[in-house]
Amino acid sequence: MAKIISGKELSARLKAVMAAQVAAFPEQYGRVPHLVVILVGDNPASVSYVTGKAKAAAEVGIRNTTLRRPETISEAELLGLIAELNADADVDGILVQLPLPKHIDTDRVIAAIDCAKDVDGFHPSNVAALWQKQPCTLPCTPKGILRMLQTAGVEIEGRHAVVVGRSNIVGLPVAKLLLDANATVTMAHSRTPDLGAVTRQADILVVAVGRPKFVKGDMVREGAVVIDVGVNRDPETGKLCGDVDYAAVEPLVSVITPVPGGVGPMTICCLMENTIECFLRRVNG
Ligand code: GUN
Repeated sequence: MAKIISGKELSARLKAVMAAQVAAFPEQYGRVPHLVVILVGDNPASVSYVTGKAKAAAEVGIRNTTLRRPETISEAELLGLIAELNADADVDGILVQLPLPKHIDTDRVIAAIDCAKDVDGFHPSNVAALWQKQPCTLPCTPKGILRMLQTAGVEIEGRHAVVVGRSNIVGLPVAKLLLDANATVTMAHSRTPDLGAVTRQADILVVAVGRPKFVKGDMVREGAVVIDVGVNRDPETGKLCGDVDYAAVEPLVSVITPVPGGVGPMTICCLMENTIECFLRRVNG
């Protein structure tokens, strides 16, 4: 029987601590942190994520504004909106929900956000700071994953971590955080030959490929720690499922995260933490 790391429970505990902290802010600083989320279009997954962020903000006492814009918004209009929010002293955090429509240059939009308000940790200056071990805003999903491992008492130093997926949002930064925690890190991806031979070497396996039930029982080592970042619809049942075939893998491993209720809630929890951090840096100058 694997130990199941509940991101739902851990995030609830962390949000309660943050709520107590934020409750003191009006007296300390005259206001609470303000997070602005921009949602372009109506991709159902993005709508669901943005709703989750608004709900978490309400729980923590963070002011949340969600700005919805049509799929047809021009890049110039979106950049104009970001410029307004950058200049607005009442805004502490700006998050542009991804993916953006194809006619918009995502890199240009991310780079336009004031680095001090970049609660996602996606701005090039934040990314550079992460890779140079400088203080920075950490991207939420990798930060949440490390928190889950630490809370579950998983030793990282000296272990072999295999990260499957090389995205800017998850794969690359989580590999860097595991390296910084002194793991030996292998990055694998869709073009890795004999992927199973690589994933079977993992003491810690992080899977972020966006393919339902992609990791089967024969791809994990017995006793491994498995972190499932995927949020997919099972094509057979229509239910939410991860990138890991949970029913097949759970009996083999020592620690695993469920989907839903695993990494997802921790991502949102770390977004709240990042918003508070940006707020405190701003109000404390
Ligand atoms: N889309 C999927 N994950 C994320 C995330 O962490 N941040 C943003 N902005 N968009 C996303």
